[in-house]
Amino acid sequence: MNTVHVCASRSYDVKIGAGLLNAIGQEVRAVTGGSVLVVTDETVAPLYLAKVYQSLTAAGLRVFTASVPAGERSKCVEYYVNLLNILAAKNLTRTDAVVALGGGVVGDLAGFAAATYLRGIPLVQVPTTLLAMVDSSVGGKTAIDLPAGKNLVGAFHQPSLVLCDPDALNTLPADTFRDGCAEVIKTAILFDPGLFAHLRERGTGFDREYVITRCVECKRDVVCADEFDKGERQKLNLGHTIGHAIEKCSDFSISHGQAVAIGTAMMARAFYPNPAEIEDVLRAFGLPTETAFDAQSLASAALSDKKRAGDTLTLVVPRAIGGCTLEKIPVTELQAVIEAGMRHG
Ligand SMILES: NC(=O)c1ccc[n+]([C@@H]2O[C@H](COP(=O)([O-])OP(=O)(O)OC[C@H]3O[C@@H](n4cnc5c(N)ncnc54)[C@H](O)[C@@H]3O)[C@@H](O)[C@H]2O)c1
Ligand SMILES: [Zn+2]
Repeated sequence: MNTVHVCASRSYDVKIGAGLLNAIGQEVRAVTGGSVLVVTDETVAPLYLAKVYQSLTAAGLRVFTASVPAGERSKCVEYYVNLLNILAAKNLTRTDAVVALGGGVVGDLAGFAAATYLRGIPLVQVPTTLLAMVDSSVGGKTAIDLPAGKNLVGAFHQPSLVLCDPDALNTLPADTFRDGCAEVIKTAILFDPGLFAHLRERGTGFDREYVITRCVECKRDVVCADEFDKGERQKLNLGHTIGHAIEKCSDFSISHGQAVAIGTAMMARAFYPNPAEIEDVLRAFGLPTETAFDAQSLASAALSDKKRAGDTLTLVVPRAIGGCTLEKIPVTELQAVIEAGMRHG
């Protein structure tokens, strides 16, 4: 088992190890001695809830459970309020905890409930997707969606503990696993030539414990330098400006991971000296690198994004593996960047 220590406004451990789900009771017992509300979704519940419930009760905890339908649509005000009502009905206090067992949807939803109920109670993240292990469970961002857009309501609330059991990935559908791989490859390009080389050599058969640990360490370093997303943390958006535009243009029929893969490939073609190096790794993971949408549609979709501030926008530019820079460009130049990202050779 590997442990990554995170020193944000709250410091906590991220533990990564096969079989950790079986020991969740003792681990959570170290964070709280009272009651826990385990929040999960209807796909994860039949796979892992019984095991988790058993381990938690065996450790002497009082366990309540709540399950939401699987998918982004559950990250909404209604399910958020439902969770608050359950927490209140079961009389959970500030010494109790919420356990988020699932992917990023459950993590964000349960995390936001934990962040706001009684002005914040302890949260244990137990991510079960690759994306949640390497990205959403670490860093303290929690959120729900509004009809007007994704993640429009949220809070920074660092967890008290994060438990990643790579064995949970065995049941993940292949396309969901690939989506997480897009963020893993992104992390390698941003921060770690060694990790990039490992992914290139091993493809989808990568060493899960090592890769998850490195990704968590990289995210930890960025989050510790910039917990509240004012500068360095923006680097995590590599491939995301164009990626979000692709998601939007496809009416969200193209998944986030696929869109990020295409966005990353486009940024590579626009700026990276040897784009084939990055494209080849993405393709080896079964991820797409091209889009059929035209540059003008993508640019206007990107510019309607909430993250744009004024007349300039910050792009994460891949100059070298482990050497990406934040560069401000006038919004009027985005379309030209996208055009450059479409060209080959
Ligand atoms: N808070 C952050 O910093 C942050 C960062 C990135 C993404 N996010 C959010 O994360 C969400 C996406 O997360 P996701 O990709 O994990 O999606 P998800 O939570 O919807 O999970 C994807 C699918 O996999 C299923 N699943 C989960 N674990 C499984 C397992 N072990 N075996 C079989 N099926 C399993 C789920 O039921 C779901 O159907 C988005 O809402 C996004 O906004 C948050
Ligand atoms: Zn992403």
